[in-house]
Parts: sequence; structure tokens; C-alpha cells
Amino acid sequence: LHPSQINTLLVHASRLKRRTLGLLRHGRLGEPPATNRKSLSTSLEFKTIALLFSKRSTRTRISAETATDLLRGRALFLGKEDIQLGVNESVRDSAQVISGMCQGIFARVGDHSDIEELAKYSQVPVINALSSLWHPTQVLADLLTLREIPELVTKPEPEPTGKTKHSLPKLRPLTVAYIGDSANVLHDMLVAYPRIGQQLRIASPEKYRAPKPVWDRVVELECDKNIFWTADPREAVHGADVVVTDTWISMGQEAEKEQRLKDFQGYQVTEQLCREGGAKENWKFLHCLPRKAHEVDDEVFYGPRSLVFRESHNRKWTIMALFDLLFGHWSIPNSPGML
Ligand code: CP
Ligand code: NVA
Repeated sequence: LHPSQINTLLVHASRLKRRTLGLLRHGRLGEPPATNRKSLSTSLEFKTIALLFSKRSTRTRISAETATDLLRGRALFLGKEDIQLGVNESVRDSAQVISGMCQGIFARVGDHSDIEELAKYSQVPVINALSSLWHPTQVLADLLTLREIPELVTKPEPEPTGKTKHSLPKLRPLTVAYIGDSANVLHDMLVAYPRIGQQLRIASPEKYRAPKPVWDRVVELECDKNIFWTADPREAVHGADVVVTDTWISMGQEAEKEQRLKDFQGYQVTEQLCREGGAKENWKFLHCLPRKAHEVDDEVFYGPRSLVFRESHNRKWTIMALFDLLFGHWSIPNSPGML
């Protein structure tokens, strides 16, 4: 996505969040659009969205199912035990069959090549719900979360009318530190944050740094200039406004657990580490979840800096915006302005 399309999505997600929560609060969510000026989009009416999940999920699945409901569509959850895909049927054939019956595919796969194959043979849009290399919808939720935090955004410009109009403030230039494994979530950060004017500082042991196809894409998008790598977590958090981590053992890497626990010793995000490294006093914490205590301790994870539960809830609004525009309207327009 182009940065201005990311902006369109985030502004739309914020609007959908505010409207849905407002309607819920006033008990008006079920009213027909004609009687309700502020009703939600019904762009998925009579549409079915296939949720093709070959791996576990809490947040992504719930977001997709509940968002589709709100847009008046039907989400069809197809887990790996439910359909022929991967056992009796190829990705190519499954893509052709499913996309002839459904109007959108949201797929969580193992190897990233599976999502490419799905997209190649599908007649309808395919959205990546996590693959071995990328987790794009996570980073949309992370960016919405950061833009909701007053200390991290620029002051909203006053409206000429004097009225206060809701708009999603833009991020000010931030230093974002990532401590841990170079996995799918980080990879999407690498191609998103530098393009919207943010500096990334990453601590990862050398053997766990971004694989070639990911780094090639980073260079192609000219993001590499705003990315600093080190093996020292203290060095990475220097000047950080935001500190991010993810699991050290992603789904599918369970056999490497013992080795990874050894290799990531010293990478746990703690108050002490960030103080010693010179993070900003008010640094905030993000984690895509699910979380293990070895990568971040309870003090940070459950403390006042932590944005993790807001971040998890924002998965829903960002996925809803994406489904509305891409599955409902088949287009994500560009919007003027930076993030
Ligand atoms: N963050 C995330 O993708 O969580 P789930 O695996 O629970 O969907
Ligand atoms: N890197 C993690 C993200 C989970 C949401 C994994 O792939 O398991």
C-alpha cells in the first residue's frame, strides 16, 4: 500500500470505530440505514468472505468475523481441518473454487508463497492475515493505536469554521525501537514506518535479521536509510518514543524453541533496559500478542506505558476498514496528506 492509502484506511477505521461504539452506546446499531443518519456501511450485504486460516488466531479471526457482521456480510471460517486445501487439494485449485463462490479471501498461511499463489488464481481480492514473512494488518492496527495517543501526534489544525471536526491526528516524527526476532510483524514495520517519516532502531541477533526477500523489498522502497540495526537492545532503545516486541518463537518455529530462548537472552523488554538504554521518559509499548513473559516482563506489559489491549481492539476497526473498502468497494483511494 502507498502511504496515502494507509492514511485513507486509518482515517476510515477511526471513523468506523467512533460510529460503531457511538451506535452501540445508544442502542441504535440495528436500526435500518434510512432511519439512522450515522449508520454504518452495508457494503458486504449479500457477500461472503472466506477466512482461510491454516494457523491459530484469536485477534485476527475475531476481528474479521465481527467486522464482517457489522458490514452486514457473512464470514465463513475455514480452518485447516475443515477443507480439502493442503491435504487433498492444491492452493491453485482451492483459490479458483473459493473465489467463484465468495467475494473476498482473508488468508492466514504458513509459507508466504501460498498467499501469492492464492492471489494469483483468485478472482476476488485476497488479503494476507499473516504469513511466514509478513503481517500487514497488524501494522495498520499499530499505527492507528499510535495516532490515538496525544503525546505521539501533532496538534490538530483548527477548523476554519471554528467547529471541532473529528479527524485523526498525524504522527509526529518518532523513534520506534523493535527488540527481538525479525519476524512477520517487524517486516511490515520495515516497509511502513520509514515511508511515513519514522526512524526504526532494531535490536536482533545477527542470525535473526530480515531474510533476503524482505530486505530486497525494503531497499526497493528506499526504506533502508531510516533503519538502524544492532545486536544490543540498549543501543536500540536510545531516544525511543515507542518500544515494540513480538514473540521470539513464531508459529511454526516450535522446534527451535530451546535455541531461540538461548539466543535471545538479554532481549527482554523491561523498565531497567529502557532506562539504561536512554529511551524517552514517556516511551510507549506495543506488542501484537500473544505474549510470553520472557520477551517483556509484567511491569511493562501491564503497566501504564503499555498500549497492547487498545492495539488488539484496533485490529477490529482496521480490518473492518480494509474489508469495507477492498471487499465491499474494491478500491482503497489515495488520500492527500502524510501520516
Ligand atoms: N496479533 C495477532 O495476529 O494475533 P492472533 O494470532 O491472535 O490473530
Ligand atoms: N510473529 C508471530 C506473530 C503472531 C501474531 C507469529 O508469526 O507467530
